[in-house]
Amino acid sequence: MNAQQPRRVKHQQTDKGYVPVYTTAIVEQPWSSYSETDHHTWATLFERQREVLKGRACGEFIRNQERFGMSADAIPRFEDLNKVLAKATGWQLVGVEGLLPELDFFDHLANRRFPVTWWLRTPDQLDYLAEPDLFHDLFGHVPLLLNPVFADYMEAYGRGGVKAHGIGAEALVNLTRLYWYTVEFGLIREAGELRIYGSGIVSSKGESIHCLESAAPNRIGFDMERIMRTRYRIDTYQKTYFVIDSFEQLMDATRPDFTPIYQRLASQASIPAGTLLDEDEVIQRGSGEGWATDGDV
Ligand code: PHE
Ligand code: CO
Repeated sequence: MNAQQPRRVKHQQTDKGYVPVYTTAIVEQPWSSYSETDHHTWATLFERQREVLKGRACGEFIRNQERFGMSADAIPRFEDLNKVLAKATGWQLVGVEGLLPELDFFDHLANRRFPVTWWLRTPDQLDYLAEPDLFHDLFGHVPLLLNPVFADYMEAYGRGGVKAHGIGAEALVNLTRLYWYTVEFGLIREAGELRIYGSGIVSSKGESIHCLESAAPNRIGFDMERIMRTRYRIDTYQKTYFVIDSFEQLMDATRPDFTPIYQRLASQASIPAGTLLDEDEVIQRGSGEGWATDGDV
């Protein structure tokens, strides 16, 4: 596939489970080394998802993706996207080999640098791969970095991550769940209807449909502390999706210092991924059809 293969250094517990963590180095995107197959894979995924996301992804996602001029023609160059980002919100993409150790990741976000995996999945992995690749990172995460409120949220999350890392492993687990259920798998209400903004969803054809149309999952109103207690799935579709009303709501809820919240949560049990609570604002009670019975992270 590519001239260089990503180098795995070791396995580590991260927000994606126990997975290979790569070198922490920032790498130049080796754009000229992408093969015809790579560009073709990008084109296939791009066209397929743009179609699936019509009427499913939130307006901000679609509009901002168009502002970047991303297209099926070729894998975008980070330096072109960075020109657009620099003017709009000051974010910059940096190329990486893959997942980073948590503290490195947080430090990038806190400084408005978004790490993007430079390599792309192979043609037999169009529907699923266990770790983020260029398609997930670029197609999925980058568009919302043009939204000023979401851009600030991501930076604040990075700073919060550095802090949580200093507080301890449990605080980090609480914070990681917030990332998971918002940045990766969040839904948003738009003109009274549910739309997708989470990157883990928009980069997956199957989950883009499942999260909105399936009777299986729960869909409940955003509640920050509730999310921080909720376990999640890394190897199946989510059992529960949390719905925000706006990115401002997300920003406002996460503005306070989390230190006392981490302390309060330390004495509370975690909630299994598919469990509903009496106090939940239930938008849809999931049927639970097809749910795995174990394996929540
Ligand atoms: N306010 C959080 C803290 O004190 C930081 C944060 C901001 C976390 C935004 C997540 C998202 O830790
Ligand atoms: Co991601």
